Amino acid sequence: MEMKELTPKQIVKELNKYIISQDKAKKAVAIALRNRWRRQNVPEDLRDEILPNNIILIGPTGVGKTEISRRLSNLVNAPFIKIEASKFTEVGYVGRDVESIIRELVNLAVSQVREEMISAVEEQARKRAEERVLDLLFPPIKRRRKANLTYEQKRQERLEYEEVKSKQNQTREKLRKMLHKGSLDERVVEVKIDELPEPRVEIFSSMGLDSFDINMGEILAGFMPGQLSKRKEMKVSEAIDFLFYSESKKLVDMNEVKETAINRVEENGIVFLDEIDKIAGGKSKSGPDVSREGVQRDLLPIIEGTNVPTKYGMVDTTHVLFIASGAFHVSKPSDLIPELQGRFPIRVELQSLTKEDFAKILILPKNALIKQYTALMKTEGVDVSFTKGAIKEISNYAAMANNKMEDIGARRLHTIMTILLEKYLYELPNPECSKIKVTKEDVSKILEKIITDEDLTKYIL
Ligand SMILES: Nc1ncnc2c1ncn2[C@@H]1O[C@H](COP(=O)(O)OP(=O)(O)OP(=O)(O)O)[C@@H](O)[C@H]1O
Ligand SMILES: [Mg+2]
Repeated sequence: MEMKELTPKQIVKELNKYIISQDKAKKAVAIALRNRWRRQNVPEDLRDEILPNNIILIGPTGVGKTEISRRLSNLVNAPFIKIEASKFTEVGYVGRDVESIIRELVNLAVSQVREEMISAVEEQARKRAEERVLDLLFPPIKRRRKANLTYEQKRQERLEYEEVKSKQNQTREKLRKMLHKGSLDERVVEVKIDELPEPRVEIFSSMGLDSFDINMGEILAGFMPGQLSKRKEMKVSEAIDFLFYSESKKLVDMNEVKETAINRVEENGIVFLDEIDKIAGGKSKSGPDVSREGVQRDLLPIIEGTNVPTKYGMVDTTHVLFIASGAFHVSKPSDLIPELQGRFPIRVELQSLTKEDFAKILILPKNALIKQYTALMKTEGVDVSFTKGAIKEISNYAAMANNKMEDIGARRLHTIMTILLEKYLYELPNPECSKIKVTKEDVSKILEKIITDEDLTKYIL
């Protein structure tokens, strides 16, 4: 969807299709997102002063923090990257490599923009590819002009040429029809390959793995001029695809792609820093991981705004929106270094999910578990249905299990559902069974045993 259409209410409405409850969090991200768009319409002198509403989502595990970000990313046409902050404390990560977040974001934006531009020229490229294939199938005759002709001879020559040309055009149009019908697909033509399909080689550098990559084609071309235009035989059907690809590449201006992409990252980029709680709280005592505070300090400049060099150019991160999230079981947001806290002015707490929420999560989201299992069993020719009582009972058991053991939020529904349906999932297909109705009694028959048995609960649920 276009940014313009995405009003805060619209964003929340879209998120509601997947995420139950958590209204505060949805509102906060919706406002932050809309403010990006609003900012772009503010007079320039003030525009630069308006900083993004970076957000920290705080809440127990399995309540929708990551899910919100995932759905948000599908919603907006903005470069969006999700990264686990804890990743940077692992062995092998030198602190400074946090810049790779931005490089990755630019890479995403470049392919996004390139795809958009390619699809904008699709029709034109398709036409050109078709003409080139027709040229190959039936090479047009070139007009040869002789020198020193009299006026009359010249006229004669032109008439002859026009006649040939018109015959040729007729044949070409016949071929075009055949081509459209696909009756020439198996014919073999010889295509001149002047662009290699770009095998790229990554050069490992101190700046990170992805900072440079080099088009081997360009290097080879430098060494061996002329050697690259090879001819290759292929079927017409393949030639069309190949020439379409190569024509679209010619029609898209790579410099424009780069510029648009960088601009898009700077103005609309969103970084989702998951598990930020894992880098909160002091220096880790021992062990191989990079100091957590160190990672925070490394992240700070990008979040505050700095220039990051990428292979497509410098990127200013001042207006990139950061959404962080964490369970903050052990540490608290106040354990983050003050400078970083200051950069996340908006804190939103997500709520533990209730059994009423569970019942909704089971059936309402577009990807709801009940919908998933119904579709799976449908492939075996079975219509499965769940009574209202059954749904309620499943939710009760999920809440119970979360109470008795660790609260893992909506993730509990996954285990409960697999246990509940195991029997059917194993026994299908069965020619005698085309309808299954799961009732409240069915649910309690299967789950009651497990939930009342301490050991079983621990190991199975
Ligand atoms: N509010 C919700 N509405 C619908 N589905 C939900 C909700 N919360 C969680 N889920 C489901 O549970 C799964 C786990 O949720 P999610 O990944 O968002 O957890 P999280 O809050 O990021 O937890 P963690 O702190 O462990 O990373 C999701 O894939 C989704 O299917
Ligand atoms: Mg998560």
